[in-house]
Amino acid sequence: MKRSTLALLRCPRDNCGTAPLTADVWIATVLDTGEDELVEGVVTCDACGGAYPIVCGVLVLLDDLAAYLRDHLGVITSLTAHGPSDAMTGWLASRAPAAVDPRHVNRSMKLEDRYVNAFLGAHFDHRTTDADTDPLIAGLLAANATRDLWSTATTLFDRTTPTSALDVGSSVGGLSALLSRRGCATVGVDTSFLSVLVARRALLFTPHPLNSYRAYREGDLYDERPLTVEGDPRYADFIVGSGLTRLVRDPVDLTCAVNLIDLVPDPARLLDTLISQTAEGGHLLITSPYGWSGVPRSRWLGGTSDEASPTALRAAGTARGLKVTWENDRVPWLWRDYSRFWRLYIVDVVLFTRT
Ligand SMILES: C[S@@+](CC[C@H](N)C(=O)[O-])C[C@H]1O[C@@H](n2cnc3c(N)ncnc32)[C@H](O)[C@@H]1O
Repeated sequence: MKRSTLALLRCPRDNCGTAPLTADVWIATVLDTGEDELVEGVVTCDACGGAYPIVCGVLVLLDDLAAYLRDHLGVITSLTAHGPSDAMTGWLASRAPAAVDPRHVNRSMKLEDRYVNAFLGAHFDHRTTDADTDPLIAGLLAANATRDLWSTATTLFDRTTPTSALDVGSSVGGLSALLSRRGCATVGVDTSFLSVLVARRALLFTPHPLNSYRAYREGDLYDERPLTVEGDPRYADFIVGSGLTRLVRDPVDLTCAVNLIDLVPDPARLLDTLISQTAEGGHLLITSPYGWSGVPRSRWLGGTSDEASPTALRAAGTARGLKVTWENDRVPWLWRDYSRFWRLYIVDVVLFTRT
């Protein structure tokens, strides 16, 4: 994490308000941009004393660290190329509730790796992969090029010109890169440690630059493809955190939850948390294909009513004092899982203004 990012953040626990966070830095370095980078250490909330680790440059700013480590400790410590020091491994183990089952670790690591590589393709290589060898894919990509999720986001950022943003569910950082290129200081937030590590490698070149990714062909076979990220490292940083808790001390111009609201256990809480971090007159960009994966029906934005999800999202926003500034509920989002498995989502995109 950049040292300058620390001043923007707050404790995820509600009661702590905007009390400052203090870093005990164990390892530091300087980024290519000249900014100070905190590689390893522990961040403490001045109000509650809650402690949050910085591992391999990634701050884990989660309220329930023990629960997170139960599922992620194995993934974090098995990152041998960029792994934590022995001291940090010990610190993390002392916070984890129980020993981690290595089989679980290997499986989750493999799944995470597949997922992260698919998103690297979707965020940074989506216009070209397979287009030269498959006319069907080339046609679909060409048809979508000027109206897909990325083009739509670009148009909206041109209209709203935010100078500060929170990209919740940032994954490997495509949207944050787009914002950073416009000089908008963006913090990307994701619960996936590997995604945040990879986003920082791709955009900030730390702890090591990421110059290629795996485009899976079939089974475990993949093509190593070059990765070109058009972002401005001076204007982006990424942390592990949850969109369900407040993370920034001062509201930002733009909060984004792109393809996230149908995945969190409490979508209404995500909306409330985003609003509370958006400046008055600022914007919220919410997009979703409404898969509602793992979300009980009673928690959908429309609840158990027959209301269509796009209507329910607009109603939920309006009831909270938001104004719909731009909308299109049929935005294509085409991305590749492997060469014979492309996904075409039809995403609802809403830009709200906080009045
Ligand atoms: C479907 S992906 C969307 C990623 C990216 N925004 C995009 O559209 O390509 C959802 C992302 O949200 C992350 N995520 C899930 N729950 C989250 C939460 N509570 N807070 C922040 N990120 C979360 C996942 O790890 C994943 O990277």
